[in-house]
Amino acid sequence: MEVIVQSDQQKASELAAALIAQQIGAKPKTVLGLATGRTMESVYDCLSKWFESKQLDFAEVSTFNLDEYIGLAGDDVNSYRHYMNEKLFSRINIDPKNTHLPNGMAEDIDQECEHYEQLIDDINGLDLQLLGIGRSGHIGFNEPLSALRSRTRAKGLTPQTLEQNAELFPGGIEEVPKRAITMGVGTILDSKRCILLATGQEKASIIAKAVEGPVTSMISATALQLHPRCTVIVDEEAASDLEQLDYYRWIFANEPEWEPFR
Ligand code: F6R
Repeated sequence: MEVIVQSDQQKASELAAALIAQQIGAKPKTVLGLATGRTMESVYDCLSKWFESKQLDFAEVSTFNLDEYIGLAGDDVNSYRHYMNEKLFSRINIDPKNTHLPNGMAEDIDQECEHYEQLIDDINGLDLQLLGIGRSGHIGFNEPLSALRSRTRAKGLTPQTLEQNAELFPGGIEEVPKRAITMGVGTILDSKRCILLATGQEKASIIAKAVEGPVTSMISATALQLHPRCTVIVDEEAASDLEQLDYYRWIFANEPEWEPFR
C-alpha cells in the first residue's frame, strides 16, 4: 500500500483521475471498477473534461460498478445506474453496453450476484478499481463483518451508512433502501490495481484505521493492506489522523513513479 497526500480535495481528485487516464492510455481496452458517492463526483468531472479536450478516449473501455441498491430501477434518480449515467457515462464516449452495474431489480438476487461475478471473470478481471470509503469503513457496501474473501452478494446496510447516504435522498433516511448488491471484499482484492480516494475531515479517523490499524472484517477497508497494488489518495484533512504522515510524504517524494504527477 502507498499513501499519497495532496494539498486539497481538488488535487486529490485530479490525481485519482490522472491515474485512471494513465491506465486507459496504456491499455485502451481497460476494465475499470467504479464507485459512486460524493467523493467521486470531481473525479468524474475531470475525466469528462479530459474527454472533451480529446485527451481521453473511452471507446474501448468497460466498467463494472461496485454496488447498486436493491429495489431501485436504473431510471430511479436515486439508483447508482442513474448516478453513473448522469455523472460520467452520458458525458463521455463509452459504449453503454460496456457499462455494468448489478441489477437491483433482479427477481433472483443470488443469481444476479453470481452472474455479475461471472461477467467480471469472463472479461479477465478488473484492471483498476476505484474506491471511496464510508464512515463505517466500508468499501463498496461491505459493511462491518463482511468476510475478507466475500464475493458479490446482497448486504444489509448499517444505520450509520443509511444516515450517511440519506443526505443524497430528497425524502431522507426513510427513502434509503436497506439492502444493496455489492462486490465482495474478495472481488475487490482480485483487481489488478486499486485506488482508494478519501477527502475531508469526516474521513480522517476511518482512514487512519484503514491504513494503520490491524486488518479486521469489522473495517472492510483494512483488507486493502492485503492488496498487492493499492494506492490511497487523501487530502490534508483526510490525512490528519495518520500517525506516519512524514513517512508517507518521504516515500512519495523519493518515488520516481510519481514524478509526472507532481
Ligand atoms: C459507492 C460506494 C461507497 C462509497 C462510500 C463513500 O458506490 O462504493 O463505498 O464510496 O460510501 O461515499 P461518499 O463519497 O459519498 O462519502
